[in-house]
Amino acid sequence: MSPYSRITGTGSFLPERRLTNADLAAELAASGVVTSDDWIVERTGIRARHFAAPSVCSSDLGFEAARKALQAANLQAQDIDLIIVATSTPDMVFPSTACIVQNRLGAHGSAAFDVQAVCSGFIYALTVADAMIKTGAASKALVIGAEVFSRLLDFKDRTTCVLFGDGAGAVVLEASDTPGILASDLHADGKHVGILCVPGHVSGGKVLGDPVLKMDGKAVFKLAVGVLDEAARATLAKAGKVAADIDWLVPHQANIRIMHSAAKKLKLPMDKVVVTVDQHGNTSAASIPLALDGAVRSGKIKPGQLLMLEGVGGGFTWGAVLLHL
Ligand code: ACO
Repeated sequence: MSPYSRITGTGSFLPERRLTNADLAAELAASGVVTSDDWIVERTGIRARHFAAPSVCSSDLGFEAARKALQAANLQAQDIDLIIVATSTPDMVFPSTACIVQNRLGAHGSAAFDVQAVCSGFIYALTVADAMIKTGAASKALVIGAEVFSRLLDFKDRTTCVLFGDGAGAVVLEASDTPGILASDLHADGKHVGILCVPGHVSGGKVLGDPVLKMDGKAVFKLAVGVLDEAARATLAKAGKVAADIDWLVPHQANIRIMHSAAKKLKLPMDKVVVTVDQHGNTSAASIPLALDGAVRSGKIKPGQLLMLEGVGGGFTWGAVLLHL
């Protein structure tokens, strides 16, 4: 049994179809919905998003991201003994998307399950994998965030449909004798269920309720800024670190204004914040590993640096993980 878990590889994948704000605005205009590049950029920082083809599922995106993470870690699928997929857009009601990814990878026999914590899903999944590695329940894990959020959007609602995109990110987390993950902090408060939800479910062969995303944007914004700060500070305290020790903040990529506030509260300059929301919008559970992989592969984030990953989403859920890469 090893005392620590450490990220040894990252990967990500975006579906081919990329829509700029102007592309999306033109498509929406055809059905009478008015928006603009200026509005979207100013309020959210988003410039483009990727939408998966109708036949492409979360498992397809997650599989590609996982393959790249395995390559980066120099491992074969058969080496993996745990797969956790964070998603709110599973391929099926069951079995889990993790089992579908496991089959495609050929990692037969590993433990495999999904985590549902919406946009905090990757933080939750990483924390669970870390705990399982530290107790000896697993030694080499794939932690994946994969979403086809475009399937949940109401393209008549301009207040939400411009915000989200599809994609996947993954990390390999391995047992290690040197510190990787230092501390984490997870929370939820179910009294806020209604401010961000997809209130539909399957019953008697039909979808009951309204299976599209509903959001009170202002309420989400206000809550997100406060809880992200609390989680980051609690995680730092658990690890005996201070905000000034952080080399990179890798926040959930929902809205540039939320990221500005989170950085400001920690007194971190924006050049220590990994920002990719402009390129893929909010990809929910995929956004943190997507941002992380981009920054690792571009050489921005260097081995050994101290990273604060933080997420917030429907539930309401939130959390943070502090780690040395
Ligand atoms: N294009 C053009 N105009 C728009 C659009 C659009 N896409 N959407 C709304 N508007 C209009 C509104 O109708 C309103 O017009 P009015 O003043 O004539 O009534 C005006 O813009 C202002 O609307 P608000 O809702 O007040 O805009 P706000 O500044 O609050 O920005 C936003 C909305 C971007 C959703 C913001 O509230 C926000 O970022 N909230 C956080 C939510 C978030 O990031 N959620 C992601 C999921 S949750 C998560 O991942 C944590």
